[in-house]
Amino acid sequence: MKLLVTGGAGFIGSNFVHYILKTYPDYEVVNLDALTYAGNLENLKELEGNPRHKFVKGDICDADLVDKLAKEVDIIVHFAAESHVDRSILDSAAFVRTNVIGTHTLLEAAKKAGNLRFHHVSTDEVFGSLGAQDAPFSETTPYDPRSPYSASKAGSDHLVRAYYHTHNLPVTISNCSNNYGPYHFPEKLIPLVITNLMEGKKIPVYGDGLQVRDWLHVEDHCRAIDTIIHKGKIGETYCVGGNGEKTNIEIVKTILGLLCRDESWIEYVEDRKGHDKRYAINFDKIKNELGWQPQITFEEGIEKTVAWFQANESWWKNIKSGEYEKYYQKQYKK
Ligand code: NAD
Ligand code: DAU
Repeated sequence: MKLLVTGGAGFIGSNFVHYILKTYPDYEVVNLDALTYAGNLENLKELEGNPRHKFVKGDICDADLVDKLAKEVDIIVHFAAESHVDRSILDSAAFVRTNVIGTHTLLEAAKKAGNLRFHHVSTDEVFGSLGAQDAPFSETTPYDPRSPYSASKAGSDHLVRAYYHTHNLPVTISNCSNNYGPYHFPEKLIPLVITNLMEGKKIPVYGDGLQVRDWLHVEDHCRAIDTIIHKGKIGETYCVGGNGEKTNIEIVKTILGLLCRDESWIEYVEDRKGHDKRYAINFDKIKNELGWQPQITFEEGIEKTVAWFQANESWWKNIKSGEYEKYYQKQYKK
């Protein structure tokens, strides 16, 4: 099988590319990534010279390019997106462009290529925000996005489903909870906490820190997508979660403990605008119908993740200092 992976130089996409090439010795990956601030070729360094991995620097909104690439592959697995809620609050234009127009451009390419199989990687944030006593999100929860990021992802989900109903495009969608693990960009909570502490900086906790997220190790997410692209039913959506609901302050305290620091490192700061209170996922459908469930507990995963950031200081220090951009500018001079 030959896959077109979009956004494969980002956090989850790069983990997925490594996972697929390791799991299936005969599969090939064409990796299309625009190398925005979040794309990092260092995530793919181990694959240099691997004949089964072809990296293409390019934009998913470039119709000519994606039309050409779609003709070369058996499936598109679509990760590329603007993914950070805080950035979407400051400026949402890139979110609408990449997440909505970029997804539309890919869907058109898949249609023209002869109704190519298409898997869309989406988020639980499209379902909105839960109260403490509410039932977790599931595949039948109505959409209620509340940030420009989640609204643009909701738009992309609707387009994917529309191409299934209107054009019979063989699609699947996954809506997953918060991932963590290797190559997690250090603007997001978990890598920010770990790297700030390692640099001797305080941890900014938004508001009261009592918002709840469900955390899933990125390897488990990769296994879920693998399961859906091989066994999922066309036209279906699968919710993917980690059974790992935690408040932000619990996350912060767990990492403080692992790094032997006290709570004086916490700094409560102004809350995120429109901050969603709680996300939680009911993943019975993928568990019962496809046999997937998380294999890595939060306790195990967070220990492994802290150890990964300790063992890969140059990776995140290059990002925080801006050095990583020089690395790819050298390789992909305009
Ligand atoms: P990320 O920001 O780390 O990576 C996004 C990648 O997409 C980057 O490599 C970037 O260069 C690339 N990209 C951005 N715009 C592009 C464009 N126009 N053309 C081509 N490439 C472009 O994101 P992530 O956290 O790895 O998330 C990947 C996907 O998974 C996203 O669709 C996101 O909505 C979804 N998701 C993320 C999480 C999470 O916890 N991080 C959870 C559920 C779903
Ligand atoms: O739920 C899936 C989503 O998870 C994905 O779709 C998004 O792409 C991904 O970024 C993530 O979104 P969140 O907004 O939940 O993740 P983030 O790491 O930005 O924040 C997690 C929680 O921590 C959230 O409640 C905000 C809070 N936070 C975050 C940062 C960066 C802080 O308190 N301080 C911080 O400095």
